[in-house]
Amino acid sequence: MMNGKQSSLLSSLFTMLFLISSFSNVLAEDKTLLRHVSATECKTCHEEIYSQWKASMHANSTALKDPIHGAFYNAVVGSPEQEDLKKGGKYPVCLQCHAPTAAKDGKTDLTALPVYNEGVNCVTCHTITAFKGTKKPEGGLQLGMKAYEFSDTSLQGPGTNHTSPNWQHPIFQNTANPAIIKTNAVCMGCHDKRKNSNKVALCQTGDEIAKSAGTTNCLSCHMPVVNGKVDHSLMGGHSAKMVGKGLVMTMTSSFSDAKTLAVSIKLANQLPHNLPTGAPFRNIFVKLTGFDKEGKEVWQSSQSHPAKDDKQAMLMYHLGDDKGNAAPPPKATQVLGDTRLKPYETRELKYSLANNNIAKLRAVAYYDLVLPGMKKKFPKPEHKGLITSNIIAVTELEVK
Ligand code: HEC
Ligand code: HEC
Ligand code: HEC
Ligand code: HEC
Ligand code: HEC
Repeated sequence: MMNGKQSSLLSSLFTMLFLISSFSNVLAEDKTLLRHVSATECKTCHEEIYSQWKASMHANSTALKDPIHGAFYNAVVGSPEQEDLKKGGKYPVCLQCHAPTAAKDGKTDLTALPVYNEGVNCVTCHTITAFKGTKKPEGGLQLGMKAYEFSDTSLQGPGTNHTSPNWQHPIFQNTANPAIIKTNAVCMGCHDKRKNSNKVALCQTGDEIAKSAGTTNCLSCHMPVVNGKVDHSLMGGHSAKMVGKGLVMTMTSSFSDAKTLAVSIKLANQLPHNLPTGAPFRNIFVKLTGFDKEGKEVWQSSQSHPAKDDKQAMLMYHLGDDKGNAAPPPKATQVLGDTRLKPYETRELKYSLANNNIAKLRAVAYYDLVLPGMKKKFPKPEHKGLITSNIIAVTELEVK
């Protein structure tokens, strides 16, 4: 039997336990914070935008969902299912862009809340109230979530869906914030630039844009209006069609003498950023083939891969170590070269073909998400799409 003192002690212990557990539930998922609202809650009314987003790399940006990011994250940082993970004694910077909601909560176990594994979700972008820039006032970089200010109570919209002067969003507070939601500011915290721990620039779309003279609004290309709504598919390297939009490849030929055919291929970058831009291992290569009258292949610009035997036709970012050997992005200490097309650049590739049986020429440009040497890291059949060299442009010429 318990006496009165014991039972009141026990009941206050229960009260305390109850308080602690409900408090930690609040910490784990406070539904009143906009940042913890799942994309599935927006899906009810914004179904089309939801499906576009769901198939995009933004919805698949975490180490648990993107196999390429996952491979690097596991190697450089550790398991995305571990809490209190540190990289060099610090909170892993990757999460600031690849798992923004976890970064806002300072968590590293991406299974702790479903919204952590939603990656760059609706409320990540639609709660940004200000862009502070990626340079810290005291020097160094502030990236991803650190580059922005957020609202945890009101959605930020472009203001273009208000049907009356006193329009209100049916379930959330909404602020029309075109300064952020209609400009590059909404993208630049995550897409400006990033360096590895040796201060070697890895991704630098922002710097590339800054050097370009033309139109610089990301949204005009990356978020076009489709069927009357702003498209949220955010196509990039994972769509060969999108990459193909950036390149116009043309070809001319002439006989420099009776037996030598001189061929010129022009590669014109249509974009205000590099082609290819983004992750440092994206690359494009071109192969030229000559056919005789019967359609038989009689000449090839490359016997193996242009990276080995036709370097002019290889558009890539070369990262290296101190000895000048090729190095992966996390380990690179220097840039050995950069043959990607600069904003709006036109590059000429020249070939001299010692064969006068050629009746037709075909140039094919391919895009790869990863460099040839990295492909063996993705042996699984379901990752075939990530290591396939996709055709992004073709040009043909009858030789007369
Ligand atoms: C109950 C239905 C409903 C839900 C749930 C809902 N919305 Fe909306 N939202 C609307 C309607 C209706 C509009 C008006 C125009 C339209 O259909 O796009 C709108 C408009 C918007 C706009 C444009 C505002 C502007 O300034 O032009 C944004 C941004 C938006 N919603 C984001 C979200 C997000 C993010 C979520 C989830 C967190 C969400 N909505 C959930 C119904 C909803
Ligand atoms: C919170 C950070 C963040 C914001 C804000 C953001 N992005 Fe991204 N974006 C990412 C990350 C991370 C990836 C890479 C996901 C991956 O491949 O793992 C990505 C990928 C992309 C891709 C590449 C898709 C592909 O096929 O590889 C494009 C294009 C893109 N973003 C454009 C934009 C544009 C335009 C904006 C502004 C409207 C924007 N992003 C805002 C973080 C962000
Ligand atoms: C990468 C950032 C980003 C993400 C992620 C994102 N949005 Fe948007 N969204 C924008 C931007 C930027 C605009 C405005 C573009 C413009 O008006 O040019 C926009 C526009 C909208 C609009 C207005 C549509 C229209 O036709 O004018 C709605 C509604 C909306 N978003 C809902 C959502 C929902 C729901 C999700 C998640 C399923 C989502 N957004 C995810 C950046 C984002
Ligand atoms: C004129 C149209 C256009 C504009 C403007 C534009 N882009 Fe792109 N972007 C493209 C095309 C086409 C591609 C595919 C080719 C490539 O990957 O370089 C692309 C690719 C990308 C990728 C994919 C990189 C990867 O690794 O897969 C990102 C990220 C990106 N753009 C971000 C931006 C940002 C941020 C802005 C604004 C500062 C911007 N773009 C402005 C057309 C454009
Ligand atoms: C400043 C934001 C930011 C940070 C920080 C960041 N990334 Fe990324 N990451 C991106 C964006 C944006 C892309 C998409 C390609 C592009 O535009 O560069 C990307 C793409 C990648 C890719 C290629 C994914 C694919 O689908 O091909 C890998 C791998 C990657 N990041 C690894 C990492 C690792 C590992 C870290 C941490 C050590 C990290 N990233 C930190 C923004 C970031």
